[in-house]
Amino acid sequence: MPSTSIPFFIEKKKRGEKITMLTAYDYTMARLLETAGVDGLLVGDSLGMVVQGRKNTLPVTLEEIIYHAEMVARGASSSLVVVDLPFPAQYLGIENTIENAARILKESAAQAVKIEVGADDAEVVAALSSAGIPVMAHCGLRPQTVHQMGGYKVHRDQKQLQADVQAMETAGAFAVVLECVPAATATQISAQVAIPTIGIGAGAGCDGQILVINDLLGIPDGNVPKHVKAYAALGEQIVAAVKDFCTDVRSGKFPAEDQAFV
Ligand code: KIV
Repeated sequence: MPSTSIPFFIEKKKRGEKITMLTAYDYTMARLLETAGVDGLLVGDSLGMVVQGRKNTLPVTLEEIIYHAEMVARGASSSLVVVDLPFPAQYLGIENTIENAARILKESAAQAVKIEVGADDAEVVAALSSAGIPVMAHCGLRPQTVHQMGGYKVHRDQKQLQADVQAMETAGAFAVVLECVPAATATQISAQVAIPTIGIGAGAGCDGQILVINDLLGIPDGNVPKHVKAYAALGEQIVAAVKDFCTDVRSGKFPAEDQAFV
C-alpha cells in the first residue's frame, strides 16, 4: 500500500506503528523530508508565520496555500501531502468549502485537506468526505481562533474534545490532529477512536506526531513552544556560514582559483 494513500495511515494505526508528519512549504524541503522517510507532509497555514513573517495564521489566502502546496507536492512522490484550508475555512458555507478544498486538490495535486474543527462542524466534514475530499480534522488548540481564545492556550475541556473527535470520526475524517492537549486526555481519546490521532503538544500516547519543520531544525522565530524539540541548530549554522562567506568576500579569500574559470 503506497504511503501516499489515506488507507496507509489507517493501516499504520491498526498495526500500532507510529505515524510521522512534518510541515513543508516548498519543493526542496519536501524532497529532503521525504528522503528522510517522513510519512506525511503538511502544507500548514503556519507558513503565514514561518515563511511570511506574519503574527498569526489568519492572513494566509487560498491562493497562497495552493502556491506552496504545488511546490511541496512536486517534491513529494511517496509521502501523503495534506494542505490546510485557510481561515475562514468551513465558515464560508458547505458549497464554498467544497469548492475551495477541491481547488486545493485539483491545482496542487495534494491528497487531503486539514481543517480546524469541532463537533459543530460535522456536517461540513461529512459533505467534504462524501465529495471524495479526504479530511484531516484539527481539534484542541485551533490557531485560527487565536483572537477568540486570547492567545495560544492548552485545550483542557476533555468532554468537549472527546465529543469533537468522535464527531469527526463519524463524519468521515481519516485522521485528527490534536494540538496542545493534556497527554492523558490525548492518550485516552486515541484509544477510543479508530482513526489515527496526530499529536503536537499532546504527549506520546497519540498515534503519530507532527512538528513545524523550522522548530525541528532549530530555526526559531521568537519564543519556542514547550512541545518543541529541536533536532538541529540550523539557524545558528546558517548565520555562521553566511558570516564566513561575508568575511571571505571582504578579504578576497572567495572566490579562490578553484571557483574561477580560466
Ligand atoms: O499550520 C500548521 O503548521 C499546523 C500544525 C502545527 C499542526 O496546523
